[in-house]
Amino acid sequence: MTAVAYATAHPNIALAKYWGKVDAATNLPAVPSLSMTLDAMSTTTTVGFGPGLDTDRVVINGRSATETEMRRVSAVLDRVRLEAGLRTRAWVETANDFPTGSGLASSASGFAALALAATRAAGLEWDPARVSDLARQASASAARSIFGGFVTLPAGTPDATFLAAEPMAGTSEWPVAISVVITTYQPKLVGSTEGMIHTRATSPYYAAWVERAPALFERARLAVLARDIDALGAAAEESAFAMHACAMAASPPLVYFSPVTLAVIEKVRGLRRSGTPAYASMDAGPQVKVLSSAADAAQIASVLREVSGVEKVIVARPGSPASVKLVRQGT
Ligand code: DP6
Repeated sequence: MTAVAYATAHPNIALAKYWGKVDAATNLPAVPSLSMTLDAMSTTTTVGFGPGLDTDRVVINGRSATETEMRRVSAVLDRVRLEAGLRTRAWVETANDFPTGSGLASSASGFAALALAATRAAGLEWDPARVSDLARQASASAARSIFGGFVTLPAGTPDATFLAAEPMAGTSEWPVAISVVITTYQPKLVGSTEGMIHTRATSPYYAAWVERAPALFERARLAVLARDIDALGAAAEESAFAMHACAMAASPPLVYFSPVTLAVIEKVRGLRRSGTPAYASMDAGPQVKVLSSAADAAQIASVLREVSGVEKVIVARPGSPASVKLVRQGT
């Protein structure tokens, strides 16, 4: 049987950050996280298992995957083959409609779309939680991109064998926005995986971060349930700065901010002082994600576009869950 499946997933931005693993081999996160899935950006991935291939073939944005990318993709495909009892290799074609590898969560949407397309192409009819667990093993933030709206991912425990994200019911209708402020198109120098392993190994603040993160997560979760954007924004900023403070204290230090990142943060604070609720969040790169009400987002985006060094601002609303279509099934 040859089946080809085509999946679409949106990236997500964590408002309570995941940074640190219980164990790198199982990829279980050390802290709980909470994110919003973004409607304005997406990854589309096609997977086909077929006879005649001697290795997996992976094309990302029109070019062959690097060795490291290949290894991470094949690890997902190997798990799927094992579960489906398949021996055939696969071809994978994936494309993002936004910059890859620059702190814009391309691994989140990428591995979510891959997990969904690969399971479906292999004939596995898994529920979203199971697909989320598979995506999580490749990239923990990807577990959250299986779902739409606001999504939580619990922390793992050392002996856990399953950990999936969970959607927060009814949150895709909340009129909020995240304006993604792109400050550079250059790929980041230290990826999240490497960055968080280095932080755990060398930062004297790592234990403090792991102890603090659950309370920030809980504040963010309650704020989403209460539809309280100011409480959510305050918790999100604290989470982002605590994560970065912890990473900056690593040896050697990990500094993801650029001067433009800081200029955007300053502008966001200025907006807030002048009465427009807006809150900044940063991941493993120099981009800034700005949380606001949907009604204020266009004005905020136009102010941030004027900051010197800003390349582009994309306004996103809560996005839909990842979706998949089986496009061809032969004999
Ligand atoms: C800063 O999910 O990319 O974006 O599990 O090693 O693939 P791996 O890490 P990844 O890390 C994301 C880190 C973050 C915060 C977040 O999305 O929660």
